[in-house]
Amino acid sequence: MSTMKSLFPPDFLWGTATASYQIEGAVNEDGRGLSIWDTFSHTPGKIANGDTGDVACDHYHRYASDIHIMKEIGLNAYRTSIAWSRIFPDGKGPLNRKGLDFYDRLTDTLLNAGIQPMYTLYHWDLPASLQAEGGWANRDLTQYFRDYCAVVFRHLGDRVRYWITLNEPSVHTNEGHLYGTHAPGLSDWKTATRTAHHLLLAHGLAIQAFREGGYPGSLGITLNINYFEPVGDTEEHRRAAQSVDGLWNRWYLDPLFKQRYPADMWELYQNHGIAPPVQAGDLELISQSLDFLGINYYFREIIHADPAVPVLEAAAGDPVPPLTAMGWEIFPDGLYRVLTRIKREYTDIPLYITENGAAFPDVLRNGTVEDPQRIDYLKRHFQAAAQAIADGVDLRGYFIWSLLDNFEWACGYGKRFGLIYVDYPSQQRYWKQSAHWLKDFLANLR
Ligand code: FCB
Repeated sequence: MSTMKSLFPPDFLWGTATASYQIEGAVNEDGRGLSIWDTFSHTPGKIANGDTGDVACDHYHRYASDIHIMKEIGLNAYRTSIAWSRIFPDGKGPLNRKGLDFYDRLTDTLLNAGIQPMYTLYHWDLPASLQAEGGWANRDLTQYFRDYCAVVFRHLGDRVRYWITLNEPSVHTNEGHLYGTHAPGLSDWKTATRTAHHLLLAHGLAIQAFREGGYPGSLGITLNINYFEPVGDTEEHRRAAQSVDGLWNRWYLDPLFKQRYPADMWELYQNHGIAPPVQAGDLELISQSLDFLGINYYFREIIHADPAVPVLEAAAGDPVPPLTAMGWEIFPDGLYRVLTRIKREYTDIPLYITENGAAFPDVLRNGTVEDPQRIDYLKRHFQAAAQAIADGVDLRGYFIWSLLDNFEWACGYGKRFGLIYVDYPSQQRYWKQSAHWLKDFLANLR
């Protein structure tokens, strides 16, 4: 891996990524309000093993020692998210000072350790009171989001250099509002397409608030861009893959970078009576210029035509091994293809890989975890990223999902993505071999 030295620019950001609900715990502390993930995880049958984020990694209390681990590994950046319901317990109305104080402490501790924070303003944990007002299907939420972001910018904007408005609007829309597997657990096409539009609009309003404040940092959005390939080179399979790409990728990329919804998907949704109401000026707001784009990449899916599937008439086939513990295909070349596609089809702005990583069936033995598969996974994805840089992609950083094993949404604590193993009953942290490997890798870059 020493050959990689020249492949990544010297000021490249190397970090890990986490999200508030997945690691913080302390759900009833210091005035935090409930979020839709609290209500969802406490609904029987929604999460594997009945797990909840009540305690998670107890990061709310252990953030300082967790930052110490990052420093030990040699990381220079850290992406996490801010919990809206810590700042505004009801999503709007009275501000909770103690919530801001936590992110103050977190920020200062990171900066003192020489680690740049990159904060996501929304990683799916909507204040529960706003779900009671209709959730993201209600257009008013876009203004509440703007107001919340403006407060956070005002408070931390002097110190934080990297901001992300939303994490993976496609996953939040589809898993939460179309397939019902994530909070808020809804399954309705109309709600889903409205949700997507309002999330994008909320993103646009947050950009406005940020630009108006004249803050020194840079602002982007994180999209989950996976790689979809037709099972065969026939018209029907190509169209199927295109629809899946439309649902997950282009429905977000096109309005952000081309100021329009993709024509094929718009027509499809209109034919089914499920296109969202778009008002004059919406697309201008959504497509305001960004300082960077964050990309989360995890897998490839091979898509075939399937007339039985409503609206899309497409489905994913069995994943091709080797697979991760999530059942996701390990396909590093997909990362290369996604990065080069963004440059070719959408934008030249700087890119960050804001998430990439894998869960494996890790077992703690003698105070460590032997995880050669994770090391191999990271090595091969780093190589794909390096190849994209060599071919002209302006990639500025790489954030591994994740620092710690954590609450993996509907899978609960059963799926372990961390470089660091968390023994939940004791909250002890143990370095996996991949964390040691990463430390050596980063040391060799310097
Ligand atoms: C992404 C999410 C992140 C994490 C990884 C495994 O879709 O953004 O929170 O759960 O998947």
